[in-house]
Formats: sequence, C-alpha cells, structure tokens
Amino acid sequence: VPTVHPSSSSCLTSEPDEKYANVNWEELGFTLIPTDYMYVAKCKQGESFSEGKIVPYGDISISPSAGILNYGQGLFEGLKAYRTQVGQITLFRPEQNALRMQMGADRLCMTPPSVDQFLEAVKQTVIANKKWVPPPGKGALYIRPLLLGSGAVLGIASAPEYTFLVYVSPVGNYHKVSSGLNLKVDHTYRRAHTGGTGGVKSCTNYSPVVKSLREAKSAGFSDVLFLDAATGRNIEEVSTCNIFVVKENIVSTPPTLGTILPGITRKSICELARDIGYGVQERDVSVDELLEAEEVFCTGTAVVVKAVESVTFYDTRIKYITGDKALSTKLHVMLTNIQMGVVEDTKGWRV
Ligand code: COI
Repeated sequence: VPTVHPSSSSCLTSEPDEKYANVNWEELGFTLIPTDYMYVAKCKQGESFSEGKIVPYGDISISPSAGILNYGQGLFEGLKAYRTQVGQITLFRPEQNALRMQMGADRLCMTPPSVDQFLEAVKQTVIANKKWVPPPGKGALYIRPLLLGSGAVLGIASAPEYTFLVYVSPVGNYHKVSSGLNLKVDHTYRRAHTGGTGGVKSCTNYSPVVKSLREAKSAGFSDVLFLDAATGRNIEEVSTCNIFVVKENIVSTPPTLGTILPGITRKSICELARDIGYGVQERDVSVDELLEAEEVFCTGTAVVVKAVESVTFYDTRIKYITGDKALSTKLHVMLTNIQMGVVEDTKGWRV
C-alpha cells in the first residue's frame, strides 16, 4: 500500500514543480479516468463517522446484503476542482454539496458526514490526486462523493453501517456536441413524482432515465427533458441537469418542491442572471411556454451551462437562440470565470 501524504487541506496551492498525470488533456470527455487515491470513512448508524483515510483508488468490499445493493440506499454528489492560471486549485461552493448530502441523508434515513468532514474529505482527495487536475482551461477534476448504506439488512430498514467515499476523475465536456443540445421531451417515462426522491441525489434517480436516454439518442437527440408525473403538462428536469427558459428578459425555471434536484449551478445561475438585470422566476413552466420561449438552456455541475438548440415534443420541433446572442453564453462566461479564478470572487463562492 503506497504511503500517502496529502498536504494541509487549508492550502490548496499546487507545488510549482508539480507534474501532471499522463493524460491527453485535449481529448477529455465525461468518462471515468481512474486516479490514484480515494477517501473512505465508515460509521455505525446514528454515530459519527470515523476519521477518514486516503487509500489507493480501487474496489471496495461490501456485504451482499448491503442496503445500497439491495434497496438502493445511497446518495451521490458531484462537484469540480479547477486549476487556475496562477497555479491554485479551487473548488466551487463545496459546502452546498455537503448540505445537499445531509438533506438527502435525512430523506433516505442515512447517517451523513458533518459539513466539516465532507469538506475535509473533498480537499484531501483533491490534494492526493492533484496531478490529475487538468491544466487551466482544459477541463476539471470531477469529484464524486458517495454515501452508501454499506451495512447488511434483509427486511426493509436503514442499514446499520454507512460508508462515505470520495473519488475523482478528470473530465471535459459532458455533452459531446459543441453546439446546442437537441432535446426530446419524453411523453412516456417520468423521472420523479410528488413525495418521491426526485429532489435529492439518490442513486436510484439516475439509472431509470437510461432507457429514455438510450431511445432518444438512437433517434439522434442529445438528451431528454422529463415532464411532471402529476399532469404531464409542465417541464421538470433533463436527465442530469436543470432547465431554464428565457422570454422577454425573464428567466424561468421549475421550482424545487421535491421533484427537481436543487442544483448548485442552478442556484448560482439564478443569482448571476438577477445581477445582470434579468427577472428570475422559480415556478411551474408549461410545455406551451417551452415551445414559445426565445431561449432554453440547461445547468448542472457536469454540464455547466449548456444552450439548447432545439426541443422536440411529439412532431413539433422548435429552435432557439444560441451562440453569441444567447444569455446562456454570457452566463456561462460569468460562471466559469468565477469557477476558474479568472475574475475576483466577490460572492465568496471559491474555496
Ligand atoms: C452532476 O452534474 O454532477 C451530476 O450529478 C450529473 C451526473 C449524473 C453525471
């Protein structure tokens, strides 16, 4: 087992002579590139997590009866570390991910790590893998914290033991298309329902969208937009990201009332849009409004801010403003300049 010496987590500055991992940084997509180390901590239900350890990245051993394997008792998070032009490594609002994990843990009756432990784990994992953080402007180190019901259960119950694990992978763009997305509005499958778990980052929310996504991709679409389960009249969420529509200086996005993930990029974009004079409304957005919008875009940690070029609902295909004239282009620049340390962080979002 190699010895690991993660430096002090309060200082995320890279060493000047740091070597990069052997990665073709020009070709990064959103696929797993295994790195060197991961963070692991465990706890008994209702107790505090042990002090975590940085260990070599690799398979974990888990009971066949684990809550996560049998009943899907698990949450994940996603955030990114960026390397700045002056050689620092920065995180974007990581405490928001810690809080969202706590919210999800409450919904799934799991024991979460404290906010401090979450932040410490993320920092230690990034530092241990710092040679995997892409050069400035070439991508980001995607950080994947997991909270798993790792204890054995047979009857339906919360697991007696939890594992908190953080691993990382360098990533580039989530969607391969450099232009805007061509979305299919799904009128068959639903992603979430009132009272369910759509509003937390439960592992169980994601594999059910794959069937819809696969069908859409094989028909030439880039992604899928889901409708609300109750009426099928309002837009909710794209497979892995939030959605916004723009019309007449008003930016609207569906409200986070339990069926939509409260995205950290979503929240940041609402604030940035207000800062530049747009009205921002978090409210039900109907399919009719979607089809009448001037512009549509998606937000998420993985996708960042991505313009939508077209939406197809049954046989109707609507095209939207993209490119230099689009608000999403402006918001993308504003957000990534903050994330990558290009502008002063007046909001205190960088760590
Ligand atoms: C993220 O944007 O971090 C996500 O969680 C999406 C993921 C399913 C790729």
